Amino acid sequence: MTDPTAVDRYLDGLLVQEDSVLAAARADAEAAGLPAHTVAANQGKLLHLLARAVGARRVLELGTLAGYSTIWLARAVGPEGRVVTCEIDPSFARVAAANLHRAGLGDRVEVLVGPAAETMQRLEGPFDLVFIDADKASNDVYLPPVLALSRAGTLIVADNVVREGAVADPATGDPSAQGVRRFLDLVAADPRLTATAVQTVGVKGWDGFALALVSDAAAR
Ligand code: DHB
Ligand code: MG
Repeated sequence: MTDPTAVDRYLDGLLVQEDSVLAAARADAEAAGLPAHTVAANQGKLLHLLARAVGARRVLELGTLAGYSTIWLARAVGPEGRVVTCEIDPSFARVAAANLHRAGLGDRVEVLVGPAAETMQRLEGPFDLVFIDADKASNDVYLPPVLALSRAGTLIVADNVVREGAVADPATGDPSAQGVRRFLDLVAADPRLTATAVQTVGVKGWDGFALALVSDAAAR
């Protein structure tokens, strides 16, 4: 019996093959002392595939960090596509800008520095895919402006919705898990959203993604 980390290594070697640009972005995030919250390689490729599957040309990301997932998403939208990514920490945004420049994607990505909830007020939609990966305690605050920037067919993806199972504990003291629970309550109650969430294990531990598809009216 092997462990989830070894399985990630196996799957990555076979299917993902993170290239030198992505590896450098991950390494520079670490070297700059950024939090170790970068998505796993196979998760980045999942985002890439989801963006391609929905034919995304405009992607919104909340929480840039070092721009690793941003690179996967920007590669999915093609040369005519655009990614807008919001980052509250100017030093993280600088690392991301350098990573995106090295990736040759600087011209299709806009890194906007500031609190995502405020930044979103200035944006014009619709976006085809939104990746929510900023401070989880605010996930419920992010959902209404994200929906305002969406259209029927927009796919919303939220990272870190399981948090080692804390999400299933109504009495959790983890502010991030509480934010995710409020977010999931809003998602569940919104007739425009058809949603699921899936647990993941691997190099990022035990966590998960939520997916919500926007439609015009009640449809699930
Ligand atoms: C945390 C945030 C993330 O985006 C992530 O992928 C993992 C952990 C965190 O805040 O702990
Ligand atoms: Mg995350």
